[in-house]
Amino acid sequence: MTSVAALHRDVFGAAASGVWSAPGRVNLIGEHTDYNGGLVLPIALPQRTCAACSPRGDRVLRVHSAQVGETVEVDLDTVGVGTPTGWTAYVAGVLWALAEDGHAVRGMDVTIDSDVPFGAGLSSSAALECAVGAAASDLFGLRLLFDDASRATLAAACVRAENEVAGAMTGGMDQSAALLCRADHALLLDCRSGETEHVPFDLASTGHVLLVTDTRAEHELNDGQYGERRASAEQAAAELGVSSLRDVDPAGLDDALASLSDDVLRRRARHVVTEIARVREAVAALRAGDLDEVGRLFDASHASLRDDYEVSCDELDVSVEAARSAGALGARMTGGGFGGSSIALLPADAVDAAEAAVVAAFAEHGWDAPRCFPVTAGSAAHREA
Ligand code: GLA
Repeated sequence: MTSVAALHRDVFGAAASGVWSAPGRVNLIGEHTDYNGGLVLPIALPQRTCAACSPRGDRVLRVHSAQVGETVEVDLDTVGVGTPTGWTAYVAGVLWALAEDGHAVRGMDVTIDSDVPFGAGLSSSAALECAVGAAASDLFGLRLLFDDASRATLAAACVRAENEVAGAMTGGMDQSAALLCRADHALLLDCRSGETEHVPFDLASTGHVLLVTDTRAEHELNDGQYGERRASAEQAAAELGVSSLRDVDPAGLDDALASLSDDVLRRRARHVVTEIARVREAVAALRAGDLDEVGRLFDASHASLRDDYEVSCDELDVSVEAARSAGALGARMTGGGFGGSSIALLPADAVDAAEAAVVAAFAEHGWDAPRCFPVTAGSAAHREA
């Protein structure tokens, strides 16, 4: 990663103007709530995507990826809904979205290197968008890293790149996490009002660890399932006469559910409304230092995602069960689901046993070995050099 500037010089024959980076994320709790105007509670990962960049005088974007090992050239005037396709959509899309917002952006030479696992539900695409967005902000004088309000504006442009150019109708949590999180804190984001709170999250001080398991089960957000969940949630809100499921009062949930037209919509709505309530409870438990309660909420969230929202999969369920059997206070899938990663809250002295239990359970099922790694709460997108 430290060599991204050197790689840039090799590929493009001139030094980069600077290096910017943005983190992946795990969401502690509040899953599939962002596009329902709900609450989310992500942390930034220590794993980051770095972008060495130089501005150009013309409207050409040249991007080299150390992971893909190729350089792609894009004429910015051809970028739009659905174009280009593939990984360059996340880079070109950000410049397109900033231009759509009225910012004067030009072409860039960009070299990407990343240690955010790809396709693991850890928001490698948002890390890529936000690293490039941060670079564009500084290089073109847009001042979008200036404070939380301007960072939220940049996050919105990155969401637009993902929704419109890359064609994944994701909700915005990932880009907000990459641009607004603070080290040693979780970000409580109200996706309806945009309000944020930084909730202290320093497990090491109490001898605990957050263990991520990348199940390596395939995870795609633009394969239809994610969009289908989003459409169901919108339909449930429409039938209830509210603009989003955030507006359903948990106290009146049973009555609201009874008025929905079918059982699938009832279960989808129940997940969203109860999950938003669990975020509030988790924040209170974290502030009170009650990690047993945080673990209980992780478990309840997983059950709701598995049974009501139906976005888990065998690999996620097995990883969660194995971590619990080895002493986790709680465990759950994180991110969009259908594969990707889970998280487990563990006493530090149980981490090795939990990892061994997860690896053994996967071997028993004949699945590829998962990758387990502990994480701490990292920092948002910034200029590295
Ligand atoms: C993906 C999306 C987010 C969010 C989560 C589920 O990560 O990118 O916007 O909807 O799924 O909570």
